[in-house]
Amino acid sequence: MPFSTDTAVKVINRADQLPAVLANAGHMPRPGQVIMVEPAYFSIDYVINPHMEGNVGKVDKEKALRQWGAVRDAFTRSGLTVHVLAGQPKMPDMVFSANHGLPYIDEQGNKHAIMSIMRSGHRRQEVPFAEQWYRQNGYEIHHLDPIEIKAFEGMGDALWHPGRRMLWGGYGFRTSPKAYDFISTRYQVSVLTLELKEPAFYHLDTCMCILDEETVLIYPQAFTADGLALIREAFKTVLEAGPREAEVNFVCNAASDGKNVIIQQGSPSIVDQLKHLGFAVREVETGEYIKSGGSVFCMKCMAW
Ligand code: ARG
Repeated sequence: MPFSTDTAVKVINRADQLPAVLANAGHMPRPGQVIMVEPAYFSIDYVINPHMEGNVGKVDKEKALRQWGAVRDAFTRSGLTVHVLAGQPKMPDMVFSANHGLPYIDEQGNKHAIMSIMRSGHRRQEVPFAEQWYRQNGYEIHHLDPIEIKAFEGMGDALWHPGRRMLWGGYGFRTSPKAYDFISTRYQVSVLTLELKEPAFYHLDTCMCILDEETVLIYPQAFTADGLALIREAFKTVLEAGPREAEVNFVCNAASDGKNVIIQQGSPSIVDQLKHLGFAVREVETGEYIKSGGSVFCMKCMAW
């Protein structure tokens, strides 16, 4: 039978388009590994997001090292294998490994990675180091066309819906929406796109934490009305963070494997709600990284 375009994968942005996408999003295994980059050269040397403003030169390196170690240990304790890449001189943001690419495992069990095109020239030289890791670990590498696509920042903006071959794609600040046409075709998956409208929430992972297949934590003010409608249609339970929890405490940048949630400490009401839903919560301190605009989620990239 010819491949019908009715059931083909799509890039969508409205709630009424969701049923067709859900009907076609097959099962995807959960990743059991993460990639982290050691923070030997982590610092704030330039300003490319509002959180970095006023923080140039203000990283306490020892504290940062301790905080990174605690995040790594939290991932290990929750049962994930942690691969550690060496940090590189003059790449102060390389520790945010979520941004380097988008890994995928296809229906045959083959591993793939689409490499990022960083929006800022300050970060472009980080990507080849991640690419080298993926190559050495059996991934097929894919590149976006830099003439057509200005920017794509990997798992900072592109989040897999757990258990499904379906991707959430944030755009507006660090990723061009066109990147999702390429990804949808190359990986044969549907992409649910979300426009971001608040500069402080410049990556999707700063305002949306997918906790499990049916549960999400968001900062609603970061999204458009269409985006919110799509999120509310796709998830049974939508937890909402307040402005302090989201912007100061980066709660939406938590990492969840469906059971364990690793989250920046200091948001008791969110933690209570998570526990009430049955999640095991590990609170960590990532203050030095929040100064740079990131927390738990973006300090790792998932891998299979
Ligand atoms: N300073 C980094 C940047 O602005 C932080 C990246 C945080 N990553 C993330 N996925 N939120 O690029």
